Amino acid sequence: MLGNGRVVVLASGAGTTLAALLAAHEQPGYPARIVGVISDQPTAAALDRARDAGVATAVVALADFDDRDAWNVAVAAAIDVFNPDLVVLAGFMRVLGSPFVERWAGRSINTHPSLLPAFPGAHGVRDALAHGVKVTGCTVHLVDAGLDTGPILSQVAVSVEPDDDEATLHERIKTVERDLLVDTVARMVTGGVAIDVVNSRRATLR
Ligand code: GAR
Repeated sequence: MLGNGRVVVLASGAGTTLAALLAAHEQPGYPARIVGVISDQPTAAALDRARDAGVATAVVALADFDDRDAWNVAVAAAIDVFNPDLVVLAGFMRVLGSPFVERWAGRSINTHPSLLPAFPGAHGVRDALAHGVKVTGCTVHLVDAGLDTGPILSQVAVSVEPDDDEATLHERIKTVERDLLVDTVARMVTGGVAIDVVNSRRATLR
């Protein structure tokens, strides 16, 4: 068990993946508890979802800080307030710097709407469509200093249909992504991650 299964979620937008986590944490047997939600966007719908679920929220907007370093320190401090065991980036659309990455190495995960390492970045679905792939999907991975580069924990494939546009494909991905994230968080909290001693890119959920 990873501590007491306390989870902080970072989200920038609609928060439908957060909503899946909030629904799961209300189930009696679910091992993780969402103790705080932090956004870089003061008007993010994700914050409303958290408040509706009775979960504490915080906003750390980049515009409120002199530079990115100061913002990074503030995000790390806001997370510490909740004393979590695991930090989950669920639609958090900014890259976090070393104050976060070093402190939460091995205890922070990100969900991304492509089969990484293909199509990292802010437009994973658009880029996959533009490339003409026939199969894409979603990935949950450990956070490291790169852009969607951390060791992969779990993935699900999703077929691209001929008439898909970015919105329809992203919605189909998100349908499976929510379940994947809920399951991966539970497994991280209960069993943790084993990192291969020879190849540290190979991480396995226990
Ligand atoms: C999800 O598909 C997530 O993977 C993606 O944003 C969406 C959030 O949806 N994140 C990224 O693209 C990060 N690179 P939501 O706001 O409805 O939860």
